[in-house]
Amino acid sequence: MSTTFQRIVLASRPTGAVSPDNFRLETAPIPELTDGQVLVRNHYLSLDPYMRGRMNESKSYAAPQPLDEVMVGGTVGEVVESRHPKFAKGDSVVGMFGWQEYGVSDGTGIQKVDTSKIPLSAYLGPVGMPGVTAWYGLNQIIAPKAGETVVVSAASGAVGSVVGQLAKLAGCRAVGIAGGKEKCDYVVQELGFDACVDYKAAEDGKALYSMIKEATPDGVDGYFENVGGEVLDAVLARMNAFGRIAVCGMIAGYDGQPLPLKNPALILISRLKVEGFIVSEHMELWPQALAELGAGVASGKIKYRETIAQGLASAPEAFMGLLKGKNFGKQLVKLI
Ligand SMILES: NC(=O)c1ccc[n+]([C@@H]2O[C@H](COP(=O)([O-])OP(=O)(O)OC[C@H]3O[C@@H](n4cnc5c(N)ncnc54)[C@H](OP(=O)(O)O)[C@@H]3O)[C@@H](O)[C@H]2O)c1
Repeated sequence: MSTTFQRIVLASRPTGAVSPDNFRLETAPIPELTDGQVLVRNHYLSLDPYMRGRMNESKSYAAPQPLDEVMVGGTVGEVVESRHPKFAKGDSVVGMFGWQEYGVSDGTGIQKVDTSKIPLSAYLGPVGMPGVTAWYGLNQIIAPKAGETVVVSAASGAVGSVVGQLAKLAGCRAVGIAGGKEKCDYVVQELGFDACVDYKAAEDGKALYSMIKEATPDGVDGYFENVGGEVLDAVLARMNAFGRIAVCGMIAGYDGQPLPLKNPALILISRLKVEGFIVSEHMELWPQALAELGAGVASGKIKYRETIAQGLASAPEAFMGLLKGKNFGKQLVKLI
C-alpha cells in the first residue's frame, strides 16, 4: 500500500464561474490509526451542485467551505484498516470524506452499506443524498395524488430522475424538463416519464411556456424545482389552483447571476404552496426514504445513470461541467 495519498483543497473563492485555479491538488501522508479509528480507501467521490454554494464566503444555510481545507463531499469506499470494534477490513462504507482518496474516522459519519444487491456507487445517487432529496420534496411537500401532473426540472439528473420515477410509481403524469434531445429521450424512453421538454430548444420564454403547456394538458399540480430562472417562470404560469412547488435548487443562478421571478402574483392567484427545503435537515426521514429507494433500485423499478470522471485530479473539471449541464445523470469521480 502506498504511504501517501492525494486530496484537493479549496485554494481560492470563485468570483462568478468556478475555475481550475480555485482548487489545489496536494499529496499527504496516509495517517497512522489510533485505537477506535478506521482508515477508508474512497472508491467514488460524489460531485454535487451544493458544493458551489459552499465555495462562496456569503452566509447560507451551511457554513462556507474553509480555504486550504479538503473540499467537502460524499464518498463511498472500503475499510482498509480498522481499530474500531464495529468496522472490519473489507466493509463497504458511505461517508463524507470529501475530495480525497483516503479518510480516517472514529466511526461517526460513516455507515456500512450492503453491496450485494445495490452497487456501491448508487449509495451516492438514487440510494443516497440525491435520492432522499427527491423522495422528501416529492412526498413531503408535493404529496402527489394519483392522476395529478408532476413536473421536474433538471429531469435527467441525480435528483430529477428519481423525482419523475417516484411520481410515476405514485400514479401521476410525470413531465421532465431537461437540456437537449438526448437527455429528454432518455427521460421518456428509459425512465418512463410521460413527456420531457427540451428547454434548450425554446427560443424564448414564450416558446418554453408553449412547450410546457403542450406537455401538461391538464396543467401542473406539483412542480419540483431544481433550476430557477426562465424555467420557473414558465412552469409557474402553468400551475393549477392549490398546486405545490418544492423548491429544491436554483442551479441556473449558482454562479452569481440574480434570478428574478417575473410574476410572483401567480402564487396568490393560483393559491400555491411554495416550500424550500434542505434534505440534511430531515435526517429522521432518511431511514424510511433509503429503505424505499434501496428496494426500488434493487428491484429495477428505479433506474439511474452515472457520468464517471476518472481519478481525483479530474474532479475540478467534472465539477465545472456539472454546473454547465455536461453531466448526464449522477456525476461521480472514480478514485481507484
Ligand atoms: N435542497 C436540497 O437539500 C438539495 C439536495 C440535493 C440537490 N439539490 C439541488 O437539486 C438540483 C439538482 O441536483 P443534482 O445533484 O440532481 O444535479 P444534476 O441534476 O445531476 O446536475 C445538474 C443539472 O442541472 C442542470 N443545469 C446546470 N446548469 C444549469 C443552468 N445554468 N440552467 C439550467 N439547468 C442547469 C443540468 O441539466 P440540464 O442539462 O438538463 O440543464 C445539469 O445536468 C440542484 O439545484 C441542487 O442544488 C438540493
